[in-house]
Amino acid sequence: MSIKPRDKMLYLDNGATSYPKPDVVIEKCANYIRDVGASPSRGGYETAIEAGRQVFETRNNLSKLLGAASPDKIIFTKNATEALNLAIFGMLSDGDKVVTTRMEHNAVIRPLLELERQGKIKVFWAKLKSDGRLDIEHFFELALKNDVKMVITTGMANVTGVIVPFWEIGKFCREHNILYLVDAAQLAGSYRVNIEEDFIDLFAFTGHKALYGVPGTGGLYIGERAKKLRPLIWGGTGGYSDLPDLPDIVPDKYEAGTPNTPGIAALGAGVKYILERGIDNIHLHKEKLLQTVIDGLQNIPRVKLFGPTDSTDRSSTIPFNIDGMKPKKVAQLLWNRYKIAVRAGLHCAPLIHQDLGVPDGTVRFSFGAFNTIEDAQYAVEAVREISVSA
Ligand SMILES: Cc1ncc(COP(=O)(O)O)c(C=O)c1O
Repeated sequence: MSIKPRDKMLYLDNGATSYPKPDVVIEKCANYIRDVGASPSRGGYETAIEAGRQVFETRNNLSKLLGAASPDKIIFTKNATEALNLAIFGMLSDGDKVVTTRMEHNAVIRPLLELERQGKIKVFWAKLKSDGRLDIEHFFELALKNDVKMVITTGMANVTGVIVPFWEIGKFCREHNILYLVDAAQLAGSYRVNIEEDFIDLFAFTGHKALYGVPGTGGLYIGERAKKLRPLIWGGTGGYSDLPDLPDIVPDKYEAGTPNTPGIAALGAGVKYILERGIDNIHLHKEKLLQTVIDGLQNIPRVKLFGPTDSTDRSSTIPFNIDGMKPKKVAQLLWNRYKIAVRAGLHCAPLIHQDLGVPDGTVRFSFGAFNTIEDAQYAVEAVREISVSA
């Protein structure tokens, strides 16, 4: 039996950026540009006040979703990469030691390697198990043995969808007086987290993935134990213009320059959408998609799946290869024949691919909250047909 190719694109690249966006996000962004338009905290007239109110509303929605101690501890950046650079360069100093994992994205790997190249810090890399989960014993052992200042982990791996037990790591860090930075680019909006209860000190997120905002938005939660964080950018903050230095007030200290206000307003609508639909409901839905794809792909003889074979503590991101075919070729056939949009290659995460033994990378399906079981079945059948015909 062969499947009928769809006329409309099936977008399975939500790990890169989510699509489609909820209508409320599009409307909020357009509404801001059309009807508000002013710069926040930079005027006493009605629309400037409204701009400030919308920025606050987004901070407040994020604070509710993520369990922040207060909305003001969340500062906005242009994406997770900038938030991670701020956290890493702003917190680490000469002689510091750091433990991280081999499943990190280049947004973590490259700033750390840069500081190491400059001779400032030493980085220890925790191993992964063969299914791509973190070897947590090795991770804790490295942290205890080396007198580390900070540990950094992804909250959810962008290649395998594995959710790292950040709640366990947070507890461990608090007990041992170590700072904990979470790269939540994939986690935020996908899986329940409570920054305070999970003892996370720094939490870097991006707006355009599972939070359903638009590109150019992200942020960093800065906890009490990280309040010595040095800023990355100096400049105007709207108020306190007489001061020669940045005001020592959060969020102002870390938000110099005019922000992406339409993007921040839209992000607030994305977060509200998640709060209303329920993050656990979204996760459960994605778990079903994940299980459908795992069950389908693992029965195709030439297909090799990577990552855990069950859906526990994992989101709907599935890397695979077809034996004898380059990942980029598979991605091209998925698009040309079936209009399925996926990413293939190393996904900005080279170390985990070394460990999985696939130097050319993998093909990655990443499902979003708007995908259906039919989408998952169609994707499986497309892979089956490619595997027998190509
Ligand atoms: C785990 C992880 N960290 C960081 C990033 C960087 O996010 P952004 O490109 O939005 O800065 C990504 C994006 O793919 C990611 O998947």
